[in-house]
Amino acid sequence: MRKLAAGNWKMNGTSADIPQLEALANDHHAASVDVVICGPATLLTRMAATGLSVGGEDCHPAPSGAHTGDISAPMLADAGATHVITGHSERRTDHGETDADVTAKTTAGWAANLHVILCIGETEAQYRAGDTLDVLTTQMDGSIPDAATAQNTTIAYEPVWAIGTGLTPTPQEIADVHAALRAYLTDRFGDEGAQMRLLYGGSVKASNAADIFALDNVDGALVGGASLKAADFSPIVTAL
Ligand code: G3H
Repeated sequence: MRKLAAGNWKMNGTSADIPQLEALANDHHAASVDVVICGPATLLTRMAATGLSVGGEDCHPAPSGAHTGDISAPMLADAGATHVITGHSERRTDHGETDADVTAKTTAGWAANLHVILCIGETEAQYRAGDTLDVLTTQMDGSIPDAATAQNTTIAYEPVWAIGTGLTPTPQEIADVHAALRAYLTDRFGDEGAQMRLLYGGSVKASNAADIFALDNVDGALVGGASLKAADFSPIVTAL
């Protein structure tokens, strides 16, 4: 499985940002790793036209219907997306999404032939209480559908307290958590779990990317703030 550098623009980006994506696409068109930018639905068609792989940041579990303001997985695919994020902590917090919601959204993403980047992560309080692995196990039990494969799913470990804060776990902590996640995935999904990509996310930037990518069981990153500018994201792709 190729490594993956995934950006998540969150609620950022306008048409003025498209030219720098074209530069990013030019810089990495022959990269030996996969590069995906997940962006706002309003921009996906134009993002995809740059030649980069693009993804949605969320999807509704239903393919269509009376759900004002929501975007379905088939709509993302129609706009040119090949990926979709599910279970991001900002969705879980801002919109009260449960593990069951994440399961439904993930299944919907697969049905639209989207590769799902499924996020899990503990809060600062849970981290300080030493509950990280219990929390992550509960989230994986509840949110990863049984039909997950290395081909249709990537797991992103994002400690909530590391998102946008400039804080990160120590390399040893990341390595320990990723080893535990790999053991879980292999135990539950066999060879598919052994091959499933595991991303780290949370304050990844050019200055710490190489150290994080050198860790066992880290198969790439899900990058927020540092994905917004090609000049910041490009060195992260190169470090992978
Ligand atoms: O999806 C991306 C993560 O929330 C990480 O965001 O790189 O700004 O900390 P960040």
